[in-house]
Amino acid sequence: MIIAITALKGGVGKTTTAVHLAAYFQTIAPTLLIDADKNRSALVWSKEDKLPFYVASQAGSPGLISKFTHIIIDTQARPEPEELEDLAIGSDLLILPTTPNHLDLDSTVKAIELLKPLKANYKVLLTKVDSRTINGREARKFLEAAQLPLFKTDIPLLVAFQRSPSRGVIVKDFPDERSHLGWSKYVAVGKEILR
Ligand SMILES: Nc1ncnc2c1ncn2[C@@H]1O[C@H](COP(=O)(O)OP(=O)(O)OP(=O)(O)O)[C@@H](O)[C@H]1O
Ligand SMILES: [Mg+2]
Repeated sequence: MIIAITALKGGVGKTTTAVHLAAYFQTIAPTLLIDADKNRSALVWSKEDKLPFYVASQAGSPGLISKFTHIIIDTQARPEPEELEDLAIGSDLLILPTTPNHLDLDSTVKAIELLKPLKANYKVLLTKVDSRTINGREARKFLEAAQLPLFKTDIPLLVAFQRSPSRGVIVKDFPDERSHLGWSKYVAVGKEILR
């Protein structure tokens, strides 16, 4: 399966989602994460060789793809319309992470307007949801009212997600009492994908 993580906005959790879904899919079958972002965030995260899957740059990926069952593609923010089109054609599923923030939701609606005519298979993932506020629930209501396909699982706002890249690990391997909560949410998203 080829899954691309994309969004018009920066900082909405694309790389965090790509890394953790790659970790989940790796528990099932060999999985390659392609870092198609010029900033090479996923490659930097993987530098210490503590991620449980293989990460390649876009340039380094062609010879590798046939060796893996699942491919997850992390992309840069603000893709050109052509790039979005290529991703839509080349992937089985596009995941659009968005925070409950109003501007991020607005960008997500705009991204979907671009994707609709491409007949792409896409699904929105709510990320960085702060359980202490009602913002996540409000955002879900908004997205449901707009009839956008949405994962049932939200990704919570957790310090462990923020800090795991600096240790070069996925959240499951970051020492924090809420790490397992964070990991269980990406496992739930992975299961929703495979259902
Ligand atoms: N669920 C979360 N809880 C807390 N912090 C998070 C969560 N998800 C992501 N972050 C943090 O938010 C910031 C942006 O996340 P990330 O790099 O995954 O987003 P991105 O969409 O890939 O950004 P960019 O557009 O710059 O590539 C990072 O500091 C990351 O650690
Ligand atoms: Mg990123």
